[in-house]
Amino acid sequence: VTRTENTLTSGLGLSHAVQGATLDDFAFPSAEVSQCPYPFYSALRKEAPVFKHPERNEFLISRRKDILHVLQHPEIFSNELSRSDKDLHRAAGHWITDVPEGDEEIITTNSMTGSDPPEHTLKRRIAATLVRRDRLERIQPRIAEIANELIDAFVDDGHCEVREQFADPLALAVICEVTGFPREDEEIYRQWVRIGTGHGRRYLTAEQRAEQDRTMGEQAEYVKALVLRKYEQPEDDVLSDVIKAHVERDGHLNVPYLTSEANLILSAGNETTSRLIATVVLLLLQNPDQMELLRRDRSLVRGAIEEALRYEAPTQWTSRLVVEDTEIDGVAIPAGAFVVNLYGSANRDETVWDDPDRFDICRPDVHKYHMGFGGGLHLCLGAPLARIEGQVALSTLLDRLDDIRFAPGKNDLDNIDHFQKRVPKHLFIEFAPGGPAQ
Ligand code: HEM
Repeated sequence: VTRTENTLTSGLGLSHAVQGATLDDFAFPSAEVSQCPYPFYSALRKEAPVFKHPERNEFLISRRKDILHVLQHPEIFSNELSRSDKDLHRAAGHWITDVPEGDEEIITTNSMTGSDPPEHTLKRRIAATLVRRDRLERIQPRIAEIANELIDAFVDDGHCEVREQFADPLALAVICEVTGFPREDEEIYRQWVRIGTGHGRRYLTAEQRAEQDRTMGEQAEYVKALVLRKYEQPEDDVLSDVIKAHVERDGHLNVPYLTSEANLILSAGNETTSRLIATVVLLLLQNPDQMELLRRDRSLVRGAIEEALRYEAPTQWTSRLVVEDTEIDGVAIPAGAFVVNLYGSANRDETVWDDPDRFDICRPDVHKYHMGFGGGLHLCLGAPLARIEGQVALSTLLDRLDDIRFAPGKNDLDNIDHFQKRVPKHLFIEFAPGGPAQ
């Protein structure tokens, strides 16, 4: 199933034949499911909501209520995936050389996303400076400025490619300004390979893993050097604040841990937000009635962003390691297995959503129930920033570009070749050159 430009509100153009497909028709992961996972999710929810993968020691969880159960029991479903296989789940800090002495007993090298309470609680509390109110208030006008600068560069052309010319550079610039990653090195961060770090790594082929590993050491050394620099010369940014707070608490600098955390914050806040921005533009173009509603009533921008997070969750799933024998919905799950929380499926769960395959920016209370940001203790820390960024990006595009439409003949709208991430490879659009008539 591929996305086409004229699928309108039919839910990514699923044909009836595919909607009626059964679980036997799919493999996970597979190119077909990466292109459009929703028929597979639907078959899972119907036939086996807690589904033992035929070849892997893992269970796919597809109903919202069961995913919530997993998220609410971190003592059974652990985020510390490195307990299973250190090679598969190495945070950036595990890659650095010349490790200075650190107190590994207080804080492990994993970032917060690879940690469980009580350690996770300590790490997350300190990193919450990321979304401090005054910081968010300061960044909001900067997001609009950066968005406007990017649009200035293509507005007279009457066309652009949304990801490369807008969403990617905007998200990277914002995360750099907030966290303290130097913007002059943006090109370096763009080169960093992230096919499958963390949760995705255990699905990679040997070749893909080698490709990922090729740049991991280099990334980690870069981030380590930055941590040391921010420690010696702190500035008004998130990295400096996080480093300072950890040193005050622990009495020394834990370089491996802080390297992991800094690397996580850069990667978690960059590509995800870019995917959201490109996706919401795509969805509005596929649903012209919704675009029209938004053009008439700009207060719907917030709803459009939340509905995009539901409809096409930029990160489709994450996993947990099962640390004691348990069961979900009567299905026994042994210690040592993984569960895969299919957030993208929870967001289409028909027991939660009316007409879940319809993109509807006026859907009430969507922000309360979608799992675009995960949930529980590990609910996306950057969500408030991502929300503001998505809203400002979309508003600025609508202010500056009139008559936005697909560039004819240039879009196949294929998803990137990735089994965890949703965004089209390219999104070529056209609009009235020069911006709205005054
Ligand atoms: C649209 C944009 C974003 C999406 C869709 C997204 C999605 C997610 C999801 C699904 C999780 C939960 C992972 C899990 O289940 O284990 C998560 C966690 C996280 N996100 Fe985001 N994220 C976005 C933006 C950001 C931004 C802008 C930042 C930082 C500036 C950020 C930082 C984090 C961090 C640090 C965690 C780990 C939290 C923890 O383990 O306690 N994210 N994100």
